[in-house]
Amino acid sequence: MRVIRSVAAMQQLALSWRRRGIYVGFVPTMGYLHEGHLSLIRRATRLVRPRKGKVVVSIYVNPTQFGPNEDFARYPRDLNRDLRMCRAEGVDVVFAPTDRHMYPGLKEGRFSTFVVEEQLSQRMEGASRPGHFRGVTTVVAKLFNIVQPDFAVFGAKDWQQAQVIRRMVADLNFPVRIIVAPTVREPDGLAMSSRNTYLGPAERAAATVLFRAIQRARAAVRARPVSAVKLKRDLEQFIRAEPLAKLDYIEFFDSTTLQPVETVTRGTHIALAVFIGRTRLIDNARL
Ligand code: PAJ
Repeated sequence: MRVIRSVAAMQQLALSWRRRGIYVGFVPTMGYLHEGHLSLIRRATRLVRPRKGKVVVSIYVNPTQFGPNEDFARYPRDLNRDLRMCRAEGVDVVFAPTDRHMYPGLKEGRFSTFVVEEQLSQRMEGASRPGHFRGVTTVVAKLFNIVQPDFAVFGAKDWQQAQVIRRMVADLNFPVRIIVAPTVREPDGLAMSSRNTYLGPAERAAATVLFRAIQRARAAVRARPVSAVKLKRDLEQFIRAEPLAKLDYIEFFDSTTLQPVETVTRGTHIALAVFIGRTRLIDNARL
């Protein structure tokens, strides 16, 4: 497995692969890898194997997608552990650039080109975290230009992110196929996340409230459609009953357009963000 830190070296390798017609799968991450990330890596590995292609995993905590009062500085990082996990999965290249490599001039104010998706990124995470998706689309566009993959795998865990990336790729003609892989959960339903490491024992127990709320919504629509306003009210109350939890948002929407619905049926998508203590967690599912 090769570990590449410089953008130029990664881009050159990708270019030489491209010239030789080598099929490339890509998994972008911010590291501190868990089974969720590994499931994406395994998906990529399975897809490239019959074509004797290559899998690239990027590990980069992207500063431009964090707000000024968010957890960029304390986001968990352990490159050596991540490299061991990637090696065990048979990853071909880990691209782990430094900030200097990715954004020379960012701190000095000499980085001024961003990619902005203007529809799907407005609500939910976009509304709660201004500038977040601008950072995500910009770094993913940069990574696609550097790695030049045939396909990239994203997790359903960040459903809105995956849809925003799909739209960016369609709108800007990136020659990259976007694959979305299912959310990997802990046995009690908590969606795996690097941020789960922030949770103390009581908070970890309380964090299952996100998945429990999804299950409650599922049960509510099993028999017949229900009003989104009423179901939201019910879930707000359900989450309020968990003393360590503070709801940020719950939305019911169409899976691909992300347009909110008035009536929730089977197949409607739910997404929610909840603070557990100081830790902000998100989850979503198709009901
Ligand atoms: P990160 O949070 O590290 O997630 C990397 C990828 O892993 C994303 O596609 C995310 O949806 C997926 N993922 C995370 N937890 C998962 C889980 N429990 N099950 C399945 N997939 C999961 O998302 C980012 O990084 C960044 O925004 C990035 C796209 C790398 C751009 O900086």
